[in-house]
Amino acid sequence: MYRSRLGADLSDITLDYVSSINDDTQIIFYDILGSQAHTLMLYENQIITKNDARKILSALQSLKNEKLDTLSEAEDIHELIESLVIKKAGMTSGGKMHTARSRNDQVALDIRMKIRDDINIICNCLLDTIEALVSLATNHQKTIMPLYTHLQQAQVGLFSHYLLAHADVLFRDFDRLYTTFVHVNQSPLGAGPVGGTSIAIDRHSTAKMLGFDGIVENSLDATSTRDFVAEYMAMVAILMTNLSRISEDFIIWSTSEFSFIELADEFTSPSSVMPQKKNPDILELTRGKTAEIIGNLTAVLTTIKGLASGYGRDLQQIKSSIWSASKISISALMILKSILLTLHVNEKQMKKAAESSYLIALDIAEKLVQNEIPFRTSHKITGGLVQIAHESKKPLNKLGITEISQIAKETKTDPNLIMKIIQSTTITSSLKERKSFGSSGYDEQKRMIADRMKKINIYRTSTTKRDNDISKALDGLSNKINELTK
Ligand code: ARG
Repeated sequence: MYRSRLGADLSDITLDYVSSINDDTQIIFYDILGSQAHTLMLYENQIITKNDARKILSALQSLKNEKLDTLSEAEDIHELIESLVIKKAGMTSGGKMHTARSRNDQVALDIRMKIRDDINIICNCLLDTIEALVSLATNHQKTIMPLYTHLQQAQVGLFSHYLLAHADVLFRDFDRLYTTFVHVNQSPLGAGPVGGTSIAIDRHSTAKMLGFDGIVENSLDATSTRDFVAEYMAMVAILMTNLSRISEDFIIWSTSEFSFIELADEFTSPSSVMPQKKNPDILELTRGKTAEIIGNLTAVLTTIKGLASGYGRDLQQIKSSIWSASKISISALMILKSILLTLHVNEKQMKKAAESSYLIALDIAEKLVQNEIPFRTSHKITGGLVQIAHESKKPLNKLGITEISQIAKETKTDPNLIMKIIQSTTITSSLKERKSFGSSGYDEQKRMIADRMKKINIYRTSTTKRDNDISKALDGLSNKINELTK
């Protein structure tokens, strides 16, 4: 339809190469909405007649309920929809729909509408997953486990503390996406191909009808910029790396060597050959799909970086990367939420692991500090005690006075004080005495859980408001259309 000055038609292979129609199935709905708002604006500003507007709007409205034949000769959804409108409304009216706009502002508009919806969906999924983490944490405020650094046992802690750490990570993912929305929700519509138009359009009015918070003012910026896409992709890539880390922990913890947790059957896969197997494939796929999303982000950035100013067809290629990032992250979050809600936690095994090592060494050192011993000295004493206990294969509280005396003498410390401290320090006493803000102690769990619950509700209110604002604007658009076409 667009090839006015071009002689030959595209061969099938070239058309297939050029066409974005398959990727465009994700933006059909947004393209129709954008065209409706644009048409209404053209009418309200006396650029087209009421009769023209009516015909175009009715044609667009009927396309909403049709399954579009993507096997057409159109290069993309914009061409397909316009050609169908012309077919339904006639050239005299339908041929006016594309007045004062271009596919360049159109596609930017559609992508922005799609991403803003995806951000809202991801934000809601994030809150569901955070809620699952916090509710599991509520049940495990007393579940003792080792905390790790270098995948070596480090300090004794609580499972709730681990879960709350990930809740906080996901809150930050939420914050990042919530901010990205502000950059995304600006309308490029009416920017034309690159330099604007001589026709007296009202860009602010289409922006409002479509629920945008403002417009991308500069028409060159509006049509050629995809920094908002890169930003969105980066936020999703960070989110996925966070989910991948949780997955990795759960994969390790569900091995028979660890046995800290057991995944519900519906989140595991069997082996085709080993009948005993219960593999954590779903979590492995989150790890694997994270790699794919990092690849998508790289694809977007490398597409943008060398592009001369103004629209370039290269930009067509980034759409599939966006769709895949959205789809994967939404599924990954929904699945993780269900995994958390069906997880079996082997509390006994976690506690056994925490008891079997010298995890209370730092707590013992700190008790010595509270008895006026410099930390460097108490570190030396406790290190010495661990070494003796390890060599004699005993827990720290089973060391006798003679075993303690050597290190006590070396550090000029009262051996009875050391004895008293090692005998009174257990993993439970450590967690009772762990009081610092944000620590893995018992008291902090209660405070943090209550605080995060409140935060979930506040965040929910904000996303719901955003959802409602968009719906309200689109309802308004739909009412106007009904009014005009009735
Ligand atoms: N199918 C194109 C895309 O997805 C639409 C814009 C084409 N514009 C152009 N001037 N060739 O990016």
